[in-house]
Amino acid sequence: ASVDHYASRLLQWFDVSGRHDLPWQHPRTPYRVWLSEIMLQQTQVRVVVPYFERFVAALPDVASLAAASLDEVLALWSGLGYYARARNLHAAARRCAELHGGELPRDFGALLALPGIGRSTAAAILSQAWGDRFAILDGNVKRVLCRVHGVDGWPGLPAVEKRLWTIADAQLPGVPEGRMADYTQAQMDFGATLCTRHDPACMLCPLQDDCVALRTGRVDDLPTPRPG
Ligand code: ADE
Repeated sequence: ASVDHYASRLLQWFDVSGRHDLPWQHPRTPYRVWLSEIMLQQTQVRVVVPYFERFVAALPDVASLAAASLDEVLALWSGLGYYARARNLHAAARRCAELHGGELPRDFGALLALPGIGRSTAAAILSQAWGDRFAILDGNVKRVLCRVHGVDGWPGLPAVEKRLWTIADAQLPGVPEGRMADYTQAQMDFGATLCTRHDPACMLCPLQDDCVALRTGRVDDLPTPRPG
């Protein structure tokens, strides 16, 4: 499983079978990418889309979000659930107004310091909004990497997660210049639609020849479930 194999096959798959018409892709501004990533943290794409469109119509940029009341933000979030996400989003916009000139910072550490943004979300924002070379590792990507690389152990364990981050970082040099945003989206789409938890479409998979789980008959056993 060579490194450029992984990225280039995933991108070829994405060009044909990935999602290219998500509302935060057109236009792909840092604010819209950020908002979509927060909404998508615990909610599926098809549920998020109408909420996203209503939210950006009312509050189209960081400055308008920072100037809005928390009540207005919570009303726009109403129905999506996990309301801490909306509170953090609002607090983060106010911090951007204070510290970053009313924009989202193009800086990994500065993004990580904002409420509601963890390592994978910061990477998803930087890669999609600016094309910067950062690896993501959400639940979908963990499943894909566990299968392709035959990684044993529940991905929630710190040692397993650490290994997966190392693998995710190691794939980055294989991503062609100018394709980081698509590569990030490709991994999300691939995990959500082809390499699914149940009944993955291995017969259609561009990584068939590279997948340790497929080769060893362990697709149904990886990733290892949470113990207990
Ligand atoms: N989950 C998190 N980010 C996503 C994205 N950009 N597309 C689809 N699912 C996602």
